[in-house]
Amino acid sequence: MTDQLSEAKIGAGIDLDAISLTDPAVLAHPNAFYAAMRTRDPIHFDKQLGMYLVSRYEDLQTVFRDPLTFSVKKGFKAQYAKGFQDELKERLERDAGGFFEEAIMTDPPEHTRVRRLLDGAFTAHRVKTLEPEITAVCGEVIERLLDKGHAEIFSDFAVPITSAIICKQLGVDMPSETIQRWALAFTNQISRMTTREDFEGLTSDLVELQKFIVDQINDRKANPREDMISDLVHARLDDEANPTLSFGETVGLCRALLIAGNETTATALTAMFFILATQPEVARQLSENVDDDRFVTRFVEEVLRLDPPVRGITRMTTEEVEVGGVKLPAGAHLLLLYASANDDANEFPAPRQFNVERPNLGRHFAFGGGVHRCAAAALARMELKIAAREIARRMTDIRLAIPLDEIRYQPTLATHTIANLELTFSRRQAS
Ligand code: HEM
Repeated sequence: MTDQLSEAKIGAGIDLDAISLTDPAVLAHPNAFYAAMRTRDPIHFDKQLGMYLVSRYEDLQTVFRDPLTFSVKKGFKAQYAKGFQDELKERLERDAGGFFEEAIMTDPPEHTRVRRLLDGAFTAHRVKTLEPEITAVCGEVIERLLDKGHAEIFSDFAVPITSAIICKQLGVDMPSETIQRWALAFTNQISRMTTREDFEGLTSDLVELQKFIVDQINDRKANPREDMISDLVHARLDDEANPTLSFGETVGLCRALLIAGNETTATALTAMFFILATQPEVARQLSENVDDDRFVTRFVEEVLRLDPPVRGITRMTTEEVEVGGVKLPAGAHLLLLYASANDDANEFPAPRQFNVERPNLGRHFAFGGGVHRCAAAALARMELKIAAREIARRMTDIRLAIPLDEIRYQPTLATHTIANLELTFSRRQAS
């Protein structure tokens, strides 16, 4: 009860109808807005967005259980390049070899087949073989930063690490700046906040990204290698009438992997550093328990619960349905707010506290849920664990180099990403 009362208090000053999730101040610090929705209007209609925001943990569970009534395919289509869809389609058809939809943003049974083909390429073996590489990349990047003593974490640490790993996995060679530019263009197109001015630049980036992927796929058709693009090009399900991925499906999947693998994990790494810089007690605990595998695993889960990188993903109802006591018509466009579910005091008491001893720590929704649960959760978790360990073993005195109120967030609906995490730190001396 105390938690519910304090939730109501946190959200008390918020007039839900006067503001929108798209307001930059709300995007940056959304938790009071989330608490107001959970306590007063859990399936809140955001007029600016034209979407229903699903904010309670138990209501997200309801949605995850029924992927046919809550369609990813329809939800994504309605959100994709909103206002510019036909133009973008034309540009991709004219300049990048075709318009290839996101093969994974579909519903069962279409999704089931594609997901099985994808999972076949995402083997535990491939994830495991990346471990030494990830450790080496983290070590190298941290050593470079330690020589300088300060860094902007998203660009100098997180993106170089995540893009090196995803490139290694896919078997491609591309500077991290290019991957970051493509990733921003991709996430902007689904963030429903694109202006005409932004659109021109984004389209050129999306054309460039797709041309690159198409070339890579054509290359692997002729010359298969030990990498994930080759695995997808040659993937086969013998018990299926349609046993292989089409060219367009392969393009869609490779593009999704290159992007999803980058922004999300880079955002999580940045959030991890932010917590270490602003919660010295948590930094001390990690430093003291760095060799305890259970602790580091739980540390990573709590980072993901407290500040999940993906803010929300969309669904659309295919028929009239009730969620959380609210009747929704067919065609209602929903945004599932993972961050709000992770902040729900009914599931996670004292939700704003970082607490690695929560009994239900792993039940957070940072990776979504149901049949669309993140395909790469194991890889992402491994990256975050290795990074946490390497940071704690090599660095100390991690501090904000700018005042807390100067921290800015990317103005996007897709992720909750700090844009300017300027930190100072020093080398940890061997004890
Ligand atoms: C910390 C890092 C990551 C987070 C927080 C994250 C989060 C998510 C979330 C929330 C979803 C959507 C689930 C839903 O619709 O309910 C998702 C799906 C997906 N993610 Fe991740 N992700 C991460 C890393 C990655 C990486 C590294 C890759 C690939 C290399 C990846 C590939 C995918 C794919 C392909 C899907 C679509 C799955 C489907 O619809 O069947 N993710 N992820």
